[in-house]
Amino acid sequence: MSQSKKSREQWGSRIGLILAVAGNAIGLGNFLRFPVQAAQNGGGAFMIPYFIAFLLLGIPLMWIEWGIGRYGGKFRHGSAPGMFDVLWNHPLAKYLGATGLFISLTIMIYYTYIESWTLGYSIFSITKLYFVDNPTFENMKGFLHSYQGIVEGHSFDSLWTAYIIMLITFTINFFVLYKGISAGIEKLAKIAMPLLFIFAVILVIRVFTLGTPDPSKPEFSVWNGFAFIWNPDFSKLDDPKIWLAAAGQIFFTLSVGMGTIHAYASYLKPKDDIALSGLSTAATNEFAEVVLGGSIAIPVAVAFFGVTATQEIAQGGAFNLGFVSMPIIFQKLPLGEVFGFLWFLLLFFAGITSSVAMGQPIIAFLEDEFGFSRKKATTVLAVFTLICVQFVVFLLKFGFLDEMDYWAGTFGLVVFALIETILFMWVFGADKAFEEINSGGDIKIPVFFKYIMKYVTPLILMVIMIWWLINDAIPTLLLYNVSDEKVPYIWGARILMLIILFVILFMIHIAWKNRELNKHMEVK
Ligand code: ALA
Repeated sequence: MSQSKKSREQWGSRIGLILAVAGNAIGLGNFLRFPVQAAQNGGGAFMIPYFIAFLLLGIPLMWIEWGIGRYGGKFRHGSAPGMFDVLWNHPLAKYLGATGLFISLTIMIYYTYIESWTLGYSIFSITKLYFVDNPTFENMKGFLHSYQGIVEGHSFDSLWTAYIIMLITFTINFFVLYKGISAGIEKLAKIAMPLLFIFAVILVIRVFTLGTPDPSKPEFSVWNGFAFIWNPDFSKLDDPKIWLAAAGQIFFTLSVGMGTIHAYASYLKPKDDIALSGLSTAATNEFAEVVLGGSIAIPVAVAFFGVTATQEIAQGGAFNLGFVSMPIIFQKLPLGEVFGFLWFLLLFFAGITSSVAMGQPIIAFLEDEFGFSRKKATTVLAVFTLICVQFVVFLLKFGFLDEMDYWAGTFGLVVFALIETILFMWVFGADKAFEEINSGGDIKIPVFFKYIMKYVTPLILMVIMIWWLINDAIPTLLLYNVSDEKVPYIWGARILMLIILFVILFMIHIAWKNRELNKHMEVK
């Protein structure tokens, strides 16, 4: 069947679409990354740059991406290369779109592996596999690191358990993607999102009712936990790093700058609302992040370990908080195995509704630009990601995952966001773009947002890029702060990412060449 005759898929219902896009946004970032970022970067004071970034970057980019996505969908394009090509009639445009495919695919590769740990840990919780008589940080770190293959012979003799659970997690992801937009992604969101909220509310209630778990240590209370995460330390606000961290968190948590929202929006009908849907998904994500994500891991850590130890835990990063300190707490709580199960399953649901979104742009690219069937597109994606993830699994201890996260999950988001904002607001044109976003809208977006999208958003993105070039580019590129042992592997990760990028660029080239050939044939 020729591409033009195939009808594109569509969302089954508005609520299904909202849940799917909210699921795309709500992820591990909300429950693990956010509390750590807030605790590390000034507590309550972090919320000032955070909300400014939400207003000036998050919401405008959300609308820009829904707008580009729905517009691209009209021309049967579900991924950035085709979408950019219709925004800007220039041979370069489609190649710029490679960034959208590169970022979503690269993040999917390592993110799904992390998501598999949450599935593993939910099983280990309910079966009490990590439960010991006297749980300590050392012990739980040993459990995690032996599971990840970083140390040998603590609780796991080899990486095989992690490997098998990784395969199961990827298989579930591919199955959902194979089922398609409405029967796969939307159905998953309709089941996983309500469960996620129910689990989160149960956990938040448990945290609120904890009080002071050890009466001999009254300062170890959940209220001090909330004070710790929310008390503003305004002196930190003159550090640009806090502002960068806030912008980075907004990008990651809303899944903007990834190419995933475009793909979902491309399955809308031309007159479907995007103004209200974009806003409501962003708001739902913020509720899940600030209210729910901010009320679980950090306050509970302070109640059990005190402020000083929690500070150290937060400095140790999101995995430390989620997979080391939380399992200790579950062992100290009555029915801890059930709460542990809920916590990790919550993370799994949060993760999988995001990771399927990261697979969708490539599937859409193969379907729309090459005419592949859904089955064939999913198979290609599965083979490619499963090859790449081997490196992430086996070379985790050498910083392979962190390197991919840095370039795709942090740096890349800003680059892609800058490209799309310029293309939509300047090349396509701010008036047309704003009209496009508002068309069919259930709300009217205030016109000052047009100016924010045209001037403020790209300006901030440029400032972030320039700041990076001046302060971080050289030390990061030349690996100044990396141990000698890791250097070859970090370069390995970079080469792998370059290969991914070149494969995508090459495929774009072939797709457009085929299209030219087809046009010629039709003319003849
Ligand atoms: N937005 C997703 C998350 O927060 C990627 O994890």
